[in-house]
Amino acid sequence: MLRTIYYKLIYFINVFNNYKGPIALKAAYKIANKKWHYNPISKNKIGTLDDYIKLSDKAKNKNCKDVDRFETKKGFKIDRIWLQKLALQTQIVIKGSELNYAHGRVLYSELRNYLNKQNKLTNISIIETGTARGFSSLCMAKALQDSNIEGSIITFDVLPHRRRMIWNCIADHIIGPQTREQLLKPWNDLMERYITFVEGYSQIELPKICRSRIHFAFLDGAHTFNDVMFEFKAIKDYQKKGDIIIFDDYNTIKFPEIVRAVDTICAQFNYSKFIINSFDDRSYVVSQKI
Ligand SMILES: C[S@@+](CC[C@H](N)C(=O)[O-])C[C@H]1O[C@@H](n2cnc3c(N)ncnc32)[C@H](O)[C@@H]1O
Repeated sequence: MLRTIYYKLIYFINVFNNYKGPIALKAAYKIANKKWHYNPISKNKIGTLDDYIKLSDKAKNKNCKDVDRFETKKGFKIDRIWLQKLALQTQIVIKGSELNYAHGRVLYSELRNYLNKQNKLTNISIIETGTARGFSSLCMAKALQDSNIEGSIITFDVLPHRRRMIWNCIADHIIGPQTREQLLKPWNDLMERYITFVEGYSQIELPKICRSRIHFAFLDGAHTFNDVMFEFKAIKDYQKKGDIIIFDDYNTIKFPEIVRAVDTICAQFNYSKFIINSFDDRSYVVSQKI
């Protein structure tokens, strides 16, 4: 019975689409994404400009010994002034927990080290889930630029790239509601050269990206076991020995499902596990295909 109704519905949508273009699909898309299209982060500006500057000053002076050691081991460190400027626009937000953007340093060092080892590589393919304001994509783009290599970073988020919104960041107090594209204008050279922003759920959009190889990935979107496993499975078959996946928020208390997913991946799918502890109980995992 249900199956009959389903097939009839598909039949009518197809007839309708053939007759009037993809109107039904567009309407369905609009309804499904409404939540993300109208100021999903906050309806109004949060705090004051001064609050963001104070938070930025506090965050930039945080020490993180494990990440310092990681940078030294990898032999590459991101330019701190460049990082702080990007963080002020994309990471300094008003929220309950401590601000910590050390994942940008980890991504940069690991990616540069990877590129340095692959001396014949001229073009690299990178996938990211969880773009947010674009911080992590730009740290990876900076690593490509500093390594003088071409490449593609495809980054996914349910948040749209070209819709004006309040971002809970300093720019809300300077310019007001704006698109992510406008927010990241000072880094337009890197965006243009390396980054493709894809709007939508990773479980729906990721399988549409047909790359034959995914050298490097950063999974920082939905924090559930099923989502992380889905994203991993969409990537793993396009990786070769030595390729990398980095996971954020490896924390048993706050994100037990991420820990379960990463542990499952490393135990069952031949990926190594290197944990980097940051402050505020935040940890990252660098995983390499064995
Ligand atoms: C922790 S934030 C990402 C932070 C970002 N990587 C950075 O360094 O600034 C997680 C992001 O994932 C997005 N997200 C959550 N679930 C998603 C899903 N299933 N598909 C795509 N994006 C998702 C959220 O909208 C949010 O912007």
